[in-house]
Amino acid sequence: MSIGKITAAAIQAMKNGPRIAALTAYDFPMTQLLDAAGIPLILVGDSLGMVVLGYSDTTRVTLAEMEHHVRAAARAKPRALLAADMPFQSYQTPAQALDTARRLVAAGAEAVKAEGGRAILPQVRAILADGIPFLGHLGMLPQSVLEEKGYHVKGKTDIERANLLADAQALAQAGSFALVLELVTPPVAREITQTIPIPTIGIGAGPDCDGEILVVTDLLGTSPGDVPRHVKKNWRFGEQMRAAAVEWRESVASRPANR
Ligand code: KIV
Repeated sequence: MSIGKITAAAIQAMKNGPRIAALTAYDFPMTQLLDAAGIPLILVGDSLGMVVLGYSDTTRVTLAEMEHHVRAAARAKPRALLAADMPFQSYQTPAQALDTARRLVAAGAEAVKAEGGRAILPQVRAILADGIPFLGHLGMLPQSVLEEKGYHVKGKTDIERANLLADAQALAQAGSFALVLELVTPPVAREITQTIPIPTIGIGAGPDCDGEILVVTDLLGTSPGDVPRHVKKNWRFGEQMRAAAVEWRESVASRPANR
């Protein structure tokens, strides 16, 4: 593997190479650590709303919060491509999307991600026309959780399958360098993967995408809530962190007070 910086074009070229193992990161030390582990694509995801900021979903995350975390992650100067999520309602028009994408790039992002397909195509085109690499996101769209009253698997009906395929093709044709497929049924994720010329990166979308992404705290076992079903191996570092804090508390409390 070359030691050079990983670009969006390099991730796109992995369609025909090794599977892409991507993770999220939200700060300097985690970005540095994942980069040292050779992770090629690091996403400052708006999942930080739940796993870092304590919100109930991603719809509360602001652009200022995203910029803050992107700045921290970018200070690690990763070899990995550093992508950032465009938060809820920050890309409602092409002009707003372009402004948001430019702000995230100014904070240190090297690519941006937004949720949706044909519905946001003018926004995607505006971002790409400005030279900013775009990562698509289809399937279950976490920013629609309130509208859709929960997190639902997508691709179960013929209409959903057809819409996903058309959205995926539209995003690829527009020039996206890769596409996240979240909670898409495995057969539909496989069909999209075999149909479009850019890599698909699955999360809870079966084994046949060109890569997979996880929320890093789900992998490490430090997420505040339940671990999603698609996380097959979880390292339970949360339990070790609590044990370390208990041991610290007990070691301090066990020394007699000198007063
Ligand atoms: O916000 C996020 O972390 C994401 C990934 C789960 C793909 O969008």
